[in-house]
Amino acid sequence: MPVVPVSPTPEIAVAPELVVTHGTPLLVLFGSNLGTAAELAQQIGHDGTVRGFATTVASLDDYTDNLPPAGAAVIVSASYNGTPPDNAAGFCRWLGGDLAPSALAGVRYTVFGCGNRDWASTYQAIPTLIDTELAAHGATRVHPRGEGDARDDFDGQFRAWYGTLWSDLAHTLDLPTVDTDGQLARGHRYEVDVLTAAAAPLAATYNATTFGIIENRALQRRDGTTPPARSTRHIGLSLPDGLTYRTGDYLGVVPRNPPTWCNGCAPGSSSRTTPACGFGATSRPNRTYPSTNRFRSSHS
Ligand SMILES: Cc1cc2nc3c(=O)[nH]c(=O)nc-3n(C[C@H](O)[C@H](O)[C@H](O)COP(=O)(O)O)c2cc1C
Repeated sequence: MPVVPVSPTPEIAVAPELVVTHGTPLLVLFGSNLGTAAELAQQIGHDGTVRGFATTVASLDDYTDNLPPAGAAVIVSASYNGTPPDNAAGFCRWLGGDLAPSALAGVRYTVFGCGNRDWASTYQAIPTLIDTELAAHGATRVHPRGEGDARDDFDGQFRAWYGTLWSDLAHTLDLPTVDTDGQLARGHRYEVDVLTAAAAPLAATYNATTFGIIENRALQRRDGTTPPARSTRHIGLSLPDGLTYRTGDYLGVVPRNPPTWCNGCAPGSSSRTTPACGFGATSRPNRTYPSTNRFRSSHS
């Protein structure tokens, strides 16, 4: 089994990664509106490349009516009120359509679902549908379907599913198993980036608009004999010029991090000289914590 050293990116002083090459096709497909499933797919794709697969990462819609019976496909998808993410709608329509029972014979796959039990009646609706329909049309499940619940321990659930993914793929595809402790170099697990877009970097990540707060008042008295343990507040927001809203639009609330946490993350400094920084898992193969999002902190 050839082992090819790959240089680290220049700014990161870590041991080189070792890539084991065998070139088996690995398709990592995602259905994602807000980025969680897409980011997991990118991480899986990276890990596949390091393990020697010829990896392609793409949206589910890019592979509508085009699932190859070669190598394997790892599918990561969210659900939105029981319907597919925007970039998986065509794929799901095709899969639920008029397909012969053996149309997908030879396709090997597994599915991980990004969901949230707050949507109780449609929890994991789309990953479940994809998994069921693939099997119903002759595809072979090579690793059990996994579920991540954003209301619970999503990362732990992902890790539990991910832990045996590569050995299951190696077994099914008759590949050499990679000893991750021995053959893949160890590097650091986390990165801290200094962000140049200091103004509302989180909003920029989601292509969102920030609102001003024009009213913020407590709705419960706290000076009685039995003050409530929790705070309930009425919050009024001002709509920026030219922006309207309608039912179903998303409103994200970003809590402010305590300054001590921010200072703890600021690289090489406990002062307030760093306006904003991002902290997240590296994309290196040896990490044990597959962060689904990068965390950002701001001193402003
Ligand atoms: C408006 C909305 C509707 C959702 N509907 C569902 C649902 O029906 N079933 C489910 O399991 N999760 C549901 N979720 C949770 C998302 O699927 C979950 O947060 C997922 O990680 C988002 O992935 P993405 O960032 O890749 O789009 C919903 C989330 C939102 C914001």
